[in-house]
Amino acid sequence: MLVLGIETSCDETGVALYDTDHGLLAHALHTQIAMHGEYGGVVPELASRDHIRRVIPLARKVLAESGKPLEEVDGIAYTMGPGLAGALLVGASFGASLGFALGKPAIGVHHLEGHLLSPLLSKPSPDFPFVALLVSGGHTQLIRVDGVGRYRLLGDTLDDAAGEAFDKTAKLLGLGYPGGAALSRLAGRGNPSRFHLPRPMLNSPDFDFSFSGLKTAALTLVRNQAEDEETRADIARAFQDAIVDVLVKKSVKALRQCGLERLVVAGGVSANSELRKRLDAEGIEVYYPDLQYCTDNGAMIALAGAMRYQMGAVPEKGFGVRARWDLIAS
Ligand code: KG4
Ligand code: ZN
Repeated sequence: MLVLGIETSCDETGVALYDTDHGLLAHALHTQIAMHGEYGGVVPELASRDHIRRVIPLARKVLAESGKPLEEVDGIAYTMGPGLAGALLVGASFGASLGFALGKPAIGVHHLEGHLLSPLLSKPSPDFPFVALLVSGGHTQLIRVDGVGRYRLLGDTLDDAAGEAFDKTAKLLGLGYPGGAALSRLAGRGNPSRFHLPRPMLNSPDFDFSFSGLKTAALTLVRNQAEDEETRADIARAFQDAIVDVLVKKSVKALRQCGLERLVVAGGVSANSELRKRLDAEGIEVYYPDLQYCTDNGAMIALAGAMRYQMGAVPEKGFGVRARWDLIAS
């Protein structure tokens, strides 16, 4: 089965074609980071307008690269939520109307399910069950995954998401938006023993997280220290070490408590090299998406859609989006 995946939930337009027999055939992405960078964050109206401009050319590119005519597409999957309502509506209306025109089904998929399954695009891919650490700009969750749609929430952030904490601290350090990757690069030059920042909830008995206090502690350091390049690198290092420490310890603890062997790490922050290094040193089986599929992309949506179709997903009449949508009902 050939599934065309469409992602437009935030500031990346992603389109991909996934073949259930041969895997990913092609994918294309346009990031709006440069456009929003000027404003220090995502401007929703600009995001929607840019998705409108990009989505059809990207779909054409993906079809051309895969050598598949549009008529051979068996089903469409678009991100239905969560995300920016206007941005989501672009992908949903394009996906649903394309399906209608072709006489093919179109289903809405959950953006976080896309992230969660994204390591399955790589080889070797993890078998179920596994524990997933989902670390994106909007979410920080530990989830027990027994199959597609079989999720149990183990822990969640009580305030900022990990990516959000990276972005806010990066902004304090003058690194622009979104600053997670830039902060990580700066931290690479930092001295690990100069500053020590708190590890919030490191030893709490649950699997929840809290990162807003860490961000405030970083802010205090930035205010009280001279703003030379070396100091900024040392602060970035202290911040990254603290956040990575908490993510690693809680993930390993969750894995042990569930009695499982495999950990999957997904979402934008799974691109972080220090996080990967520290998890790889834990002597556990860890799976990550390829770097290009850590942040938002169409490939993960095409894959999640294909897996949903294989489970018998049927499209609803019309289309809708869900700007707020929990992956796991609490
Ligand atoms: O998954 P994603 O594209 O968006 C959401 O679904 O929220 O994640 C984006 C987040 C941003 O907060 C970005 O700063 C962060 O992932 N990020 C990183 C790195 N690369 C991206 N954070 C830390 N280290 C990185 N290398
Ligand atoms: Zn995302």
